[in-house]
Amino acid sequence: MAGLKKKMTIPFARVPVAINEQKYVQEVLESGWLTTASKAAALEKKFARVVQAKYACAVNSGTAALHLGLEALGVKPGDRVFVPSMTFTASAEIIRYLQADPVFLDTEYGTNLITPGILEEAIALHPDVRFLIVVHYGGQAAPMVSDENQAGILEICNKYGIKVLEDAAHAFPARLGERMVGSLGDVTCFSFYANKPLTTGEGGMLTTRNKEIYDRVKKMRLHGIDHDVWDRFTENKPSWEYDVVEAGYKYNMPDVNAAIGLAQLEMAAEFRAERQRAAMFYYEHLGQLQEFMDLPVTRVPFSDHAWHLFPVVLKEKAPLGRNEFIKKMAMAGIGTSVHYKPLHRMTYYKNRYHLDAKSFPRAEKTWQGNVSLPIFPYMTPEELNYICKTIEKLLKY
Ligand SMILES: Cc1ncc(COP(=O)(O)O)c(C=O)c1O
Repeated sequence: MAGLKKKMTIPFARVPVAINEQKYVQEVLESGWLTTASKAAALEKKFARVVQAKYACAVNSGTAALHLGLEALGVKPGDRVFVPSMTFTASAEIIRYLQADPVFLDTEYGTNLITPGILEEAIALHPDVRFLIVVHYGGQAAPMVSDENQAGILEICNKYGIKVLEDAAHAFPARLGERMVGSLGDVTCFSFYANKPLTTGEGGMLTTRNKEIYDRVKKMRLHGIDHDVWDRFTENKPSWEYDVVEAGYKYNMPDVNAAIGLAQLEMAAEFRAERQRAAMFYYEHLGQLQEFMDLPVTRVPFSDHAWHLFPVVLKEKAPLGRNEFIKKMAMAGIGTSVHYKPLHRMTYYKNRYHLDAKSFPRAEKTWQGNVSLPIFPYMTPEELNYICKTIEKLLKY
């Protein structure tokens, strides 16, 4: 480990600038419509087309999309909802917003996804649960669709009358066979947070093919008002007239954010291919370290993966543990992160639901050594090479 010098500074994430952000934001400023208006409507339309969804509803965060989606699926106080433990707290906190309770699931080692097998085990243990949140971890779709070997998650849920909400915060653009993530199940939620594959700074999108869900989400996104300001402006009705039909939320996406999203969307395919290029470099150059480190397992073709994350797992045999590794990487100027410390280890969930790490053996195996490496568009060969060489030095010498 001697000779580990800082030769570069590489952040964990670097937001790529698309070409037209400034132009579209300028248009918003000049239009005088800074709140939800034509840019948000255009982003909804274009995003829906890209992910093959019938409807899309732009909101001000991925968390807002998840909250609205779960509410629209009909979760009520006291209901229980399956959710993976290996995720960000937003996936589970929204269950609590509705005064329902999470039932945490273990996730597959290597992919960090829920599998049909894990789901079947959970259903056998908790036959009363009627809702499931699936996380398309890291940018890879979970096995939603049946194949010749096994029933997919959607088919299993259909059989047991379980409604599914997909957390696709990491998974844009991502594909499963012929379908884009966003058109697989009834409700899919995307995050456009600053470091996400498509960003609006802060923002999110909910997609659905179900008109009833769409109408509900659209209404609840803006105070439970029957039709919003932009609708009233464009509909030629008296602009003061509206009715409040529910106690809704304030989750609409401002046009300034939507303008950034429109520019980013134009570059989404290129940005995804760029992240894939970085992932392929890692597979090629870190494969020989498998004695000490596991690389992420893919279930889908590389080109169907959004490659939001590149999470590796340091094995017990590695000469240094995860925390030490992160420190040393930082000393070498390389930013890393951890996705995730599982929710069953977080104080709130652990105490409230009396969770025992032993119930999550696969997530625990991951947690012992998980580190996410930098992955973002336009990483240079020098940057990628420096990261791989630094890792090699840390693990081999
Ligand atoms: C898996 C997952 N779900 C939900 C969210 C919440 O998204 P947002 O930050 O846009 O509210 C995130 C954000 O980091 C996430 O990683």
